[in-house]
Amino acid sequence: MDIKPDQQPEIRVLPMPADTNAAGDIFGGWLMSQVDIAGSIAAHRYVGNRVVTVAVNEFLFIKPVLVGDLVSIYADILHIGNTSIRIGLHVVTERERGQHQAETVAKAELTYVSLDKEGKPCPIRKKM
Ligand SMILES: CC(C)(COP(=O)(O)OP(=O)(O)OC[C@H]1O[C@@H](n2cnc3c(N)ncnc32)[C@H](O)[C@@H]1OP(=O)(O)O)[C@@H](O)C(=O)NCCC(=O)NCCS
Repeated sequence: MDIKPDQQPEIRVLPMPADTNAAGDIFGGWLMSQVDIAGSIAAHRYVGNRVVTVAVNEFLFIKPVLVGDLVSIYADILHIGNTSIRIGLHVVTERERGQHQAETVAKAELTYVSLDKEGKPCPIRKKM
């Protein structure tokens, strides 16, 4: 997915030293977790009830994330199935906030399933 000119991120977050790997960069699992949260917010907003992650279809780590980077995660709906919804995620960092251009550091596609009150997959009502 590409970011639209006026698009707002689903989340913005600052990684901390506790989120680093042995090399001192931000741990990939931390970023995957933030992306999953951002995707679930977008999926829940469309579906209107509980969603769970069923698949990480694709996850590309393009550049490292560093402590102190401002991480913004943008989300778009890519496909709405019967009970599932696939979300595209685009992760951007601003290093040394304000002094450098935003850079794309990761891209991902995740699929979420809409669940009813019993925790069973339930159809997604399509809008428009
Ligand atoms: C999500 C879950 C409820 C789906 O149950 P299920 O019995 O497999 O349900 P279904 O086979 O009916 O599939 C539901 C939808 O998920 C989609 N799906 C299932 N596996 C998929 C996969 N590997 N990739 C993409 N979509 C998948 C199906 O295509 C279906 O979509 P559709 O209705 O739009 O066609 C069940 O697998 C589950 O509880 N998983 C654990 C979820 C979880 O804990 N997530 C957090 C992980 S930390």
